Amino acid sequence: MLGEAFYNTFKEDYEVRASDIDVNDSWLTELDVRDYSAVRQEASEFRPDFIFNLAAYTDLEYCENNPNDTYITNTIGAENAALISQELGSTYVFISTAGVFDGGQETYNDYDIPAPLSVYGKSKYYAELSIKDGCHKYFIFRAGWMMGGGHKDKKFVHKIVKQLLEGKQKLHVVGDLKGSPTYTYDFAANAKEMISTQFYGLYNMTCEGGPSRYEVAAEMLKIFELQDKIELIEVKSDYFSEEYFAPRPNSEVLENLKLKSRNLDFMRDWVFSLKDYLEKDWNHKVKEEMP
Ligand SMILES: NC(=O)c1ccc[n+]([C@@H]2O[C@H](COP(=O)([O-])OP(=O)(O)OC[C@H]3O[C@@H](n4cnc5c(N)ncnc54)[C@H](OP(=O)(O)O)[C@@H]3O)[C@@H](O)[C@H]2O)c1
Repeated sequence: MLGEAFYNTFKEDYEVRASDIDVNDSWLTELDVRDYSAVRQEASEFRPDFIFNLAAYTDLEYCENNPNDTYITNTIGAENAALISQELGSTYVFISTAGVFDGGQETYNDYDIPAPLSVYGKSKYYAELSIKDGCHKYFIFRAGWMMGGGHKDKKFVHKIVKQLLEGKQKLHVVGDLKGSPTYTYDFAANAKEMISTQFYGLYNMTCEGGPSRYEVAAEMLKIFELQDKIELIEVKSDYFSEEYFAPRPNSEVLENLKLKSRNLDFMRDWVFSLKDYLEKDWNHKVKEEMP
């Protein structure tokens, strides 16, 4: 999801080599972040100024069921790229998550202490720690609920769109979990601004606002002009507890305190970003293909 936005945003001004474990686009080559030697060889040949590590298992249920696999990819993979960045003098850019917090507070700033609940959250938090230990020049950007990617979208927005395209008239949506939506293109643009500075370190970087999933779905229906046609039913998260069994924080709402204090917070209100994303990738499809 995020890789597509990073590639399109950075290729304008940088020479970009993009890779993935699953080569599903012409601009990608194959590289496995678990393979230290392969990553080191690729980086040694290319000598990048920046190494971005966006690779991770992002399906929380998969992570919960496969902890070792998750730590090897999300944590050791991140550590591999940190060591290589340090060795080659590249700046390391790592993407972390609001899921490092336990959700007990309403909002979290960059200085709040993580206490991850899920295997996924732990794997990302341990990655953060190893990067801080192993690397001098790094940026860690924490994203919230990712929105973006169009056909690569695996997350909430696509799950709602999919139900609309299947002709569902009633949607059950969770109202008791809150988060900060994060549009991939806004995130990539803000990351691009940040990496041209020397303000290394860890930053919360999410869109402004902290809606529930229900509020995001309601806004989607408004943007698609379907609010009078589709019934939205608010449920508690335990309604989906069999399907989504990984523990999720009650709040994944982040405050971009450090970005704001440096006048480098260009993240927009989530409603504007959601509108842009739906207009770019989904409006047309929903209008044309919804039964
Ligand atoms: N999605 C969210 O809500 C969210 C929120 C906060 C932070 N983040 C972070 O943002 C980053 C980008 O995630 P995303 O949202 O763009 O999700 P994504 O589309 O799932 O991107 C992650 C990519 O990493 C790939 N990958 C998995 N194992 C790999 C390996 N061993 N070597 C190389 N690539 C590998 C995945 O391939 P497969 O699809 O084949 O597994 C996938 O293409 C991740 O670090 C994620 O933890 C995501």
